[in-house]
Amino acid sequence: SDTEKGNYPFYMIKEIEEQPKAVWACLNVYTKNDLVDFEAIGLTKEYLSSLDNIYILGCGSAYNVGKVSECIIEELTNCQVRVELASEFKYRNYKLNKNSLAIIISQSGETKDSYEALLKCKNEGIKTLSIVNVKGSVIPRNSDYHIYTYAGPEIAVATTKAYSSQLLVMYLFSLALAEAKGDITLEDEKKYIKELKSLPEKMEHILSDKASVQKLANHFVSKKDVFFIGREMDYAISEEGSLKFKEVTYIHSEAKPSGELKHGTLSLITDGVPVIAIATQNELLEKSISNMEEVKSRGASVIALTMEGADVSKSSKYQIYIPKTNKLFTASLAIIYLQLLAYYVSIAKGINPDQPRNLAKSVTVE
Ligand code: G6P
Repeated sequence: SDTEKGNYPFYMIKEIEEQPKAVWACLNVYTKNDLVDFEAIGLTKEYLSSLDNIYILGCGSAYNVGKVSECIIEELTNCQVRVELASEFKYRNYKLNKNSLAIIISQSGETKDSYEALLKCKNEGIKTLSIVNVKGSVIPRNSDYHIYTYAGPEIAVATTKAYSSQLLVMYLFSLALAEAKGDITLEDEKKYIKELKSLPEKMEHILSDKASVQKLANHFVSKKDVFFIGREMDYAISEEGSLKFKEVTYIHSEAKPSGELKHGTLSLITDGVPVIAIATQNELLEKSISNMEEVKSRGASVIALTMEGADVSKSSKYQIYIPKTNKLFTASLAIIYLQLLAYYVSIAKGINPDQPRNLAKSVTVE
């Protein structure tokens, strides 16, 4: 059943493998004839077209989903987007724009910081939309609109399939927003949805390549520090890759925007330090390659994660290729490799990835 491990040694790998199914579930519920269908949610085209300002709030991986979404909404529309950690948002004196929608992302729907961020928005008279996995939890119960992610129960502390489902819902939201505002046509939207429908198969393709990730994982077992770098959306992906990695491997890991390396982190790059360079955005490839060379020349062992067709072999020691997809959706594929890497390093070190020390699945304290 959904809450049993079955033949899997750990929930984390079970849930990693359930991601194609989780993505299908969202697409089935929230698309109709290859168009986004949020009718049951109450998000009308008229309302969406009136929005100029979006806040996205969450903690942990949910926040990282917000950072990917920010790039997508900015790419597709003229809306202003602001993504904040719920735990910080509460204490700040932001001058909130009243004609905004605040999106609260949460797997459990119970995270205290996220709930309080929601209450702050409500108190200020800002409309709220929550994107939540656990039905009937406190956050959706108190939001103006809510979208469930249909990932099924998630047991492992480190989220995997809920992250993927949240991303999918945010893709659909971004497309609906862009279409409502006249920034893309219905034809464009259909093309994007068709591409989204090809993601589960591409995810399966990555999952069939687990053995190569497991082999690569051995390389990390004795390492003390790991760095993840990337630009723009690739940086947002780096943050989630790094979070997964530190959570379950107990290896210090840090994500940096590639352009910031020279302002500090480069002093830590010495012989044999692993640097995972995310480079899924073709327009930024040249710049990313120059950052790979920058760390390689200091002795780093560079693992490049890029899209099929990109040539990164000269600037990296190991290469990982995701199947080709639209540049807006690369996070969904890249993250699977990064989750698998974190998982296999955890296993190689004899750690139980389902229950990392000191961490809890749902955090209901401040
Ligand atoms: C915990 C979990 C993370 C999760 C975060 C936010 O730290 O271990 O995986 O991203 O809480 O939880 P939420 O339920 O609000 O998404």
